[in-house]
Amino acid sequence: MNKQRLLSGHETELLTSEELRKISEDLVKHKSGFVRILPDGWLYPAITTLYLDRIYSMELRPDDVFIITFPKSGTTWMQEILWVMLRNPDLDPNNEEMKEPLWVRSVDVGFDMHFDNEERAKRDMKSIAEKFSRVCSGKKVEDGILIQIAESQPSPRVIKSHFPLELHNKDLLKKWFRWKDQDDIGSDEAANQYYNMVVYVARNPKDVMVSFYHWMRVIRSANYQGSLEKFAREIMKGDFSYCPYWPHVLQAWRQRDNPNLYFTTYEDMKDDIMGQLRNINKFLGKNLTEEQLRKIAQFTSFSSMKTRGEPIDKAYYNEDLWKKEGGMFRKGIKGDWKNHFSPELNQEMDQWIRDNVKDTGLIFKSGN
Ligand code: A3P
Repeated sequence: MNKQRLLSGHETELLTSEELRKISEDLVKHKSGFVRILPDGWLYPAITTLYLDRIYSMELRPDDVFIITFPKSGTTWMQEILWVMLRNPDLDPNNEEMKEPLWVRSVDVGFDMHFDNEERAKRDMKSIAEKFSRVCSGKKVEDGILIQIAESQPSPRVIKSHFPLELHNKDLLKKWFRWKDQDDIGSDEAANQYYNMVVYVARNPKDVMVSFYHWMRVIRSANYQGSLEKFAREIMKGDFSYCPYWPHVLQAWRQRDNPNLYFTTYEDMKDDIMGQLRNINKFLGKNLTEEQLRKIAQFTSFSSMKTRGEPIDKAYYNEDLWKKEGGMFRKGIKGDWKNHFSPELNQEMDQWIRDNVKDTGLIFKSGN
């Protein structure tokens, strides 16, 4: 058994090929193999261990905002909201940065784990590879393309991550004092102005399942061939990349009263986007007007984002399936699981949800 201790204190365990076979023949293949991160057992390509320590020790800036989610929970929607609120609140059409796709202006720091070689990164993620050559000259690809782009970005940064909270820098949720400005040390007023902030979006796991399933079919490197039922059972068992689902959500849920973290759900965003924008405005300390927020709601609505187009490179996905099943902006609704789940699968999932939310106070809308 090949084990390694991470800076976060977690242990990694490399899976043998037999263990991998038992998990799923449909799991995204990765040259480096797969690891579990213990104790929760997060499943990632083995190469991820190279980057987790870098992400953990990444230098945080007082005005960083992290958008953290389990995949397919509404990340892109919230990411665009945060990005425009922080970097282009008047939606200036001539804003130079906005000419780049969202996933280049606000990078997913964990995405390096999907590249098993530089060629693949260049082929699948042309816009990312180009940005890397432009802003990270002299830096080594092996040290992480996305991580180094994030490091090069101007403040305030909006950093996306699908890693659970505890795999990030332990200071992510702590108040930051202006330690560079000695006079302010210990002043509550200064401390209140300087946070690293986390926005966490959760989504009804039944809809996550449907959305994730479609995505894993559309993405070329995943090319998932199994049925939705099979996929859902793998997710429930924690036998798919990014799983297990519950510790991811519950770690953030337990921090919902932390002033550095804003916990919300996809369903709440769908039900009352203006209410959510007002909350985020306050959370970020932005003081944007109602009129600005209204325009941002419109700019980040499903139809507007879909019309502007997908923020990813075409080589990355299967175009036929994308057209047939929808892509990055597939349906954008609550409760689509009702169109896909068999009564048996629904029952199993209800039980799985009940078992896991028991005693937590977490309730998902449009689920049960
Ligand atoms: P569906 O597949 O159910 O349509 P993520 O960004 O975390 O990958 O989540 C993707 C899901 O969010 C997809 O769900 C996508 O359609 C939905 N989505 C993306 N932008 C949205 C928006 N502006 N409004 C509502 N839903 C959005």
